[in-house]
Amino acid sequence: MGQNGNMAKQKIYSCTECGASHTKWSGQCDACNAWNCIQEDKPLGTGPAKKSLGGMRGKQIPLTDLATTEAPPPRTFSGVGELDRVLGGGLVKASALLVGGDPGIGKSTLLLQAAARFARNGLKVLYISGEESTNQIQMRAQRLGLTQSPVKLASETNLRDILTTLETEKPDLAIIDSIQTMWADNVDSAPGSVSQVRSSAHELTTFAKTHDMSVIMVGHVTKDGSIAGPRVVEHMVDTVLYFEGERGHQFRILRSVKNRFGPADEIGVFEMTGKGLAEVKNPSALFLTDRGKPSAGSVVFAGIEGTRPMLTEIQALVAPSPHSQPKRSVVGLDSGRLGMILAVLESRCGVPFTGLDVYLNVAGGMKINDPAADLAVAAALVSAREDAPLPAEAVVFGEISLSGALRPAVQTENRLKEAQKLGFTSAITPQQTKKVAVAGLTLRQSQDLATFVEDIFGERGPEK
Ligand code: TYD
Ligand code: MG
Repeated sequence: MGQNGNMAKQKIYSCTECGASHTKWSGQCDACNAWNCIQEDKPLGTGPAKKSLGGMRGKQIPLTDLATTEAPPPRTFSGVGELDRVLGGGLVKASALLVGGDPGIGKSTLLLQAAARFARNGLKVLYISGEESTNQIQMRAQRLGLTQSPVKLASETNLRDILTTLETEKPDLAIIDSIQTMWADNVDSAPGSVSQVRSSAHELTTFAKTHDMSVIMVGHVTKDGSIAGPRVVEHMVDTVLYFEGERGHQFRILRSVKNRFGPADEIGVFEMTGKGLAEVKNPSALFLTDRGKPSAGSVVFAGIEGTRPMLTEIQALVAPSPHSQPKRSVVGLDSGRLGMILAVLESRCGVPFTGLDVYLNVAGGMKINDPAADLAVAAALVSAREDAPLPAEAVVFGEISLSGALRPAVQTENRLKEAQKLGFTSAITPQQTKKVAVAGLTLRQSQDLATFVEDIFGERGPEK
């Protein structure tokens, strides 16, 4: 009891910028170095009746059942199939979205095109840019052939003025490009800071919900993390999409990482052309580079991204290293995964990579998240190391466990069908637990990675 008494007297302070706890007030937070951000945490029950937890202070909140009679919120299709799919079937009324991505990847282009499509399909759309002048956007619209679309445009960063305008204009959809340029005059820090980004996003989201308006906010992802990235906004919004791709490649992937109104991890594929973004309806055909005669180190992976099967080419190059610490370079795949596969090849299959530089690359600028890429990566690595090409008409997929066992992949049949559709005649996979068969496709199955290496590269055999 005495302890409780002590605790009641102990005041607690926390930083409004980074959330760190402090035992006493000070002018600067020693966790994030921000100034004037330490505030006392006031428990909800302060005041005379603070002892009674029952409180009798709040009001009874209305309770309801799990069943609803309300219709699902209406949706509007953009008509761009790749976008509508990622949205989970069109744009939901009064929803808040975040579209994140590297600067220059094409977010503004994508959203201007989407704005035009939604406007043409009957929505009242406002596009507000804090990054470019109206003139610059008009020139882009001209290049994209969108000047006749009934989208309203403004260049502004003052959030108070923007909200006032939204209040009178009452659009169905507002696009804010970007959240990092917005400035709320009631928050005492510079645009782009965590508190500005958080507060602007909160104001816009709340406004959207209370005014039956959808809002799409653009957020730049910064690699060094020095400026507030869109991460602080992710939990506030209904849907988070990331627009990704490799600079210098024309392919762009729009990926849903969170969606309250549809499946997460769905992707849409686009190609950046001279006239903006074009839909790629059959990505497999495009991600596979010209496949003539088989070449060592190149393997076709039959993957699943979101709900769709997609074939990509994984390329490996293995060469004696001039460095004491050999290079491990990966583009389009998780580098931790490469390390794991190299370790399993070495310790379970007797295929060492010591003293060898390893370069691994996914052709076309695609980023692969599918764990079934393991076996294709291993195949590419061994193929490159042995200078032994895989048959050109074969696809590979399967997950590798640390023990060296191969695990069947999800959606095996969809992967096989896609391979067959694109003219492949064999598939190298883990031993299937259920029997799968696709006409015209021969399966070569292995139980573990060592058997796989033996089967596929056996005659040349890795030196022991
Ligand atoms: P942008 O949409 O401005 O990127 P973000 O808003 O993500 O910063 O796109 C910038 C790049 O896209 C720029 O390098 C030029 C290129 N681009 C095209 O290739 N074709 C086009 O039609 C347009 C409008 C842009
Ligand atoms: Mg932009």
